[in-house]
Amino acid sequence: MQPDPSDYGLTLDRDECLLMDGVKLTDVAKEFGTPVHVVNGQRLVRDAQKFADEAKNSYPGPVSVHFAFKSNSVPGIVELIRGAGLKAEVMSEYELTLALRLGYEPKEIIVNGPCKTREFLARCVQSAVRFIIVDSAEELIRIDGISREIRKRTNILLRVNPGFRPGRINRGSIAASRKTSPFGVDLVGGEVEEALDLVADFRYVDFHGFHIHIGTGIRRSGDHARALSCLSYLHGLARRKGFELKVLDIGGGFPSPTSREMTDSEMLLYQSFGILPRFGKSSGPLTEYFRKIAEAVRIGIGAGVIPELIFEPGRSITSQNQVLLLRVHYVKHRAGKRTWLITDGGLGTVTMPTFYEYHEIFPCSGATRQRKQLVNIIGPACFSGDVVYKNKRMPDIMPGEVLAVMDSGAYFTALESSFGFYRPAIVAIDGGRTRLLRRSETFDDSVSRDFMERNDYKGGNGNEIRGSKRRNRPFAGFNRSRSHTQIHRKWRGIIG
Ligand SMILES: Cc1ncc(COP(=O)(O)O)c(C=O)c1O
Repeated sequence: MQPDPSDYGLTLDRDECLLMDGVKLTDVAKEFGTPVHVVNGQRLVRDAQKFADEAKNSYPGPVSVHFAFKSNSVPGIVELIRGAGLKAEVMSEYELTLALRLGYEPKEIIVNGPCKTREFLARCVQSAVRFIIVDSAEELIRIDGISREIRKRTNILLRVNPGFRPGRINRGSIAASRKTSPFGVDLVGGEVEEALDLVADFRYVDFHGFHIHIGTGIRRSGDHARALSCLSYLHGLARRKGFELKVLDIGGGFPSPTSREMTDSEMLLYQSFGILPRFGKSSGPLTEYFRKIAEAVRIGIGAGVIPELIFEPGRSITSQNQVLLLRVHYVKHRAGKRTWLITDGGLGTVTMPTFYEYHEIFPCSGATRQRKQLVNIIGPACFSGDVVYKNKRMPDIMPGEVLAVMDSGAYFTALESSFGFYRPAIVAIDGGRTRLLRRSETFDDSVSRDFMERNDYKGGNGNEIRGSKRRNRPFAGFNRSRSHTQIHRKWRGIIG
């Protein structure tokens, strides 16, 4: 079946060119160069607000939604999400500083992570963030020491590993709540009790509740609720230790509607035999997830007590609202073998997520052309792992064409690397206008942290116009005035 751009919030012009909020994606590629991420600003804000509204409408008590910075911590993107009214969930010094610089109040920030250093914890305590989500008894002892030292009370949630494995995502990935997961204190084996006993003795640490995050890209709407089957035990235990359960943090993990992680068997088939799965069914509406969570809380805690719920979504807000444009520089046909589309984006920009996730790819012009052949799409690195997708069904693609990788908004820029190339620009489209959120990297950026013996470099690498408002000269030959078929004919002549 042909994929439909409208499922991805994109439309088509008369020439079948992809438009995001009325702007032609090939024009963005021409103006800002490739690879380039393009963010659908208004849709991003709408999805963030919709998440918060639906979560609030599904639950009788208070609900707070904290955007998980780790999924996409590009300042211009976080600003948009903050504008939609979401608070912040951070896990590092960088993310905390960014949140504070962007104007979040400390009481709007919660802090996660398994390796909070003493310095980082001291900064969190000093800034009086809303909650530090404690990952271990050792961390708890450290927080108590710091809080006592500076005589400041610290509010905490306790992260519990419920020993639950979500379905339809692969074991190798970040299923964060399996028995073998390193995160949080274990539900079984007395670790929760031990941590509660510690807090009970600490004068400067206040326990507010539990945190349970079960992984990312959860595809079954009942999995969060199933993991909460431990709630009545946790609630009872907290009560016995003299604590009230005021807050329950559900974590993140809500899926993107149009991309997904491969399952164990799909990974095996894809990585071993090159059989790429199809997207298949979407995970269903988020309201189903929220409804089941609210029901699980009601059953687990019983009548009377209604704790505040915290959500920490990342992927479900950012993923579907960003695409990554790559340009095909060469098309290598080899007799009896697959065709290779050789693009300027790969290892540094996209191949980490596409190693284990399924993302649709469209050509930006002639977007609905029949997909007649299987091709391998690779990146620019001289490295055999630089594969965007193996055996992807695509139409005939010519050199110079721009491809759009869908759903690049979550864990793409977060996982990007340079690998010998410059990291891409990020452009937002808002109300039909483009706005640069991050320019593409230059040589000077790349070496800005390096100390060299030879220090007579004068700057300038011919790359200065990338990410600026000026045209991308190297591709001036592939401008709009020439139709796709003209280009096609030209290259057919050359390729023979
Ligand atoms: C503790 C925690 N909260 C929230 C998230 C965000 O998850 P997602 O992007 O799947 O919503 C993560 C990601 O793994 C996480 O570890």
